[in-house]
Amino acid sequence: MILETDRLLLREMQISDLDALLLVLGDAESMRYYPKPFDREMVQKWIDRHRHNYAQHGVGLWAMVLKATGEVIGDCGLVWQEVEGHQELEIGYHVRRDQQMQGYATEAASACQNYAFNVLGCCVGVAHRRHRVISLIRPENIPSRRVAEKNGLKIVQETLWRDIPHYIYAVQR
Ligand SMILES: CC(C)(COP(=O)(O)OP(=O)(O)OC[C@H]1O[C@@H](n2cnc3c(N)ncnc32)[C@H](O)[C@@H]1OP(=O)(O)O)[C@@H](O)C(=O)NCCC(=O)NCCS
Repeated sequence: MILETDRLLLREMQISDLDALLLVLGDAESMRYYPKPFDREMVQKWIDRHRHNYAQHGVGLWAMVLKATGEVIGDCGLVWQEVEGHQELEIGYHVRRDQQMQGYATEAASACQNYAFNVLGCCVGVAHRRHRVISLIRPENIPSRRVAEKNGLKIVQETLWRDIPHYIYAVQR
């Protein structure tokens, strides 16, 4: 287990989470700001990628577990991304559609932000020495922007990321 909040646990994803994460990432309406919803193979690669991130960087997107029921209802965590030639630590999140609008993404992302600053000491020692965490968010993704804003992130720049316009939301240490 990596983090605990009032209602959630964040722990490493495992291949046995595939079905639960497919319900989250495979939902076409929820994932409308992504190029396409994930299929089973994409979710498998997603889990592999984040397990590689844990081993390589000590962080990644973690499985979001609802304490009340023990079920995996999403993911949230920290991912190193290359943005305009710099390594930046991004907070990311996905919540299953029937569990949205209850503050879970905001609660989990807030815990990840505290972890980045207080446990990782983010981001002292990184080449550009920006002591900040970011979220890359498409302008039309209002729910994601609200989560960032509720946790104190502000738009600092607009950028083309993976050929798609994104806002860089950031909060300083
Ligand atoms: C973004 C996402 C994780 C938010 O999860 P969540 O648990 O519902 O988030 P929260 O409940 O903490 O907060 C959502 C906020 O967005 C607001 N919101 C949601 N839909 C909205 C809409 N259509 N218009 C305006 N506000 C909206 C909610 O009202 C809430 O804000 P509030 O507390 O001020 O009322 C979820 O929508 C999701 O999984 N989306 C698909 C994946 C994704 O886009 N991830 C982010 C990639 S950058």
